[in-house]
Amino acid sequence: MSAPKILVVDDSAAARAFVRAALVRFGLQVVEASSGPEALAILGAQPVDLVITDVVMPDMDGYELVRRIRKDPRTSAIPVLVLTSRGDVADKVAGFEAGADDYMVKPFEPVELEVRIKSLLARRGAAPAPAAAQEKLATIVAVFGCKGGVGTTTLAVNLALALRQITGEAVALIDADLSFGDVGLHLNVPPVHTINDLVQYVEELDTAMLAQAMVEHPSGIRVLLSPPRPERAEEVSARLIGRVLDLASHSFDYIVVDTQRVYDDRTLMVLDKAELVLLVLTADIGALRNASLFLTLARTLGYPADKVMPVLNGTGVDTGIREQDVKRVLGGREPFPLESGGVEVALAANQGSPIMLTNPRNKAARGIRQLAERIVAER
Ligand SMILES: Nc1ncnc2c1ncn2[C@@H]1O[C@H](COP(=O)(O)OP(=O)(O)OP(=O)(O)O)[C@@H](O)[C@H]1O
Ligand SMILES: [Mg+2]
Repeated sequence: MSAPKILVVDDSAAARAFVRAALVRFGLQVVEASSGPEALAILGAQPVDLVITDVVMPDMDGYELVRRIRKDPRTSAIPVLVLTSRGDVADKVAGFEAGADDYMVKPFEPVELEVRIKSLLARRGAAPAPAAAQEKLATIVAVFGCKGGVGTTTLAVNLALALRQITGEAVALIDADLSFGDVGLHLNVPPVHTINDLVQYVEELDTAMLAQAMVEHPSGIRVLLSPPRPERAEEVSARLIGRVLDLASHSFDYIVVDTQRVYDDRTLMVLDKAELVLLVLTADIGALRNASLFLTLARTLGYPADKVMPVLNGTGVDTGIREQDVKRVLGGREPFPLESGGVEVALAANQGSPIMLTNPRNKAARGIRQLAERIVAER
């Protein structure tokens, strides 16, 4: 069994280093977060056995972090130790009220920290964890295009295939481009079943019904196709999409969603449920403007900064827009560079056999595979 993993949350790098040094000496694994939002992102992405958090931090204080950890069924059973320089009784009470399991005042003796951590871990081991905390839910990746034709569907389809090839795990591809979805064409799967099969069963929807509405592709990925005709898009409600994603989370390891470019409640449902949003753009003025608008929206929705990963498609083609211009528009973020794979990519899609299958050595296929590897590594 590998050593327990401890998440240390403190805005001070020096304080984190001090705690880390002690924990490493006790033979524990350590991951660090410099803020509450970063801690929550880590907890959403990897299993952690115990959290040690500071109280006074900008953005989100330690008590709020504990409350959020307790509220989420996936993290509610994780022991939390609050570590702070504040020592009065009112503060301790606030910590316990928020749901902390233990409380230590700085400066502390490393040996005391060790004893407390061991007892928290032992207690956790003794108590049966709730089922929800044991089950690992799927990683949902939404692919959102800043503009028409920037390569959203190409990325979604090939990413799903790459995730399947790399992990061999259960991968779902959902076409939520409700009016003009063409995932079925890219994969050459006929729309014998689509999301519209589920429209009348929203409330009683279960895993078996969802499985029936999905189509299996020879690669092993399972696909939920968009409405067979654009006028049937309006039958699909945000609630249905939410239910589909919740159910699919229990039976898949990865869910990739090709998202439509409309900010309606159905798109927002996909974006909210996603752990990662790939924001696809090209180096042109329209896509950049829309990317900037999207990032503003993401901030308004309270998404943590690392939930959105911009993907710059077709890099290597000179559009007169420089790398640093793109980075500036993206608020300093480095986009994931996806090279153009040339006309071969479109030919493959048009024949219903994506580039990831026909020529994995194509530059675009290699780039998408690297992106998939990154997503797998961060899961
Ligand atoms: N990295 C790439 N290299 C080469 N061709 C690409 C690349 N990405 C996308 N394409 C091509 O660009 C075209 C548009 O791609 P795609 O249909 O995936 O875009 P989209 O954003 O989903 O469009 P829509 O707005 O219609 O949904 C297709 O012909 C596709 O093959
Ligand atoms: Mg598309």
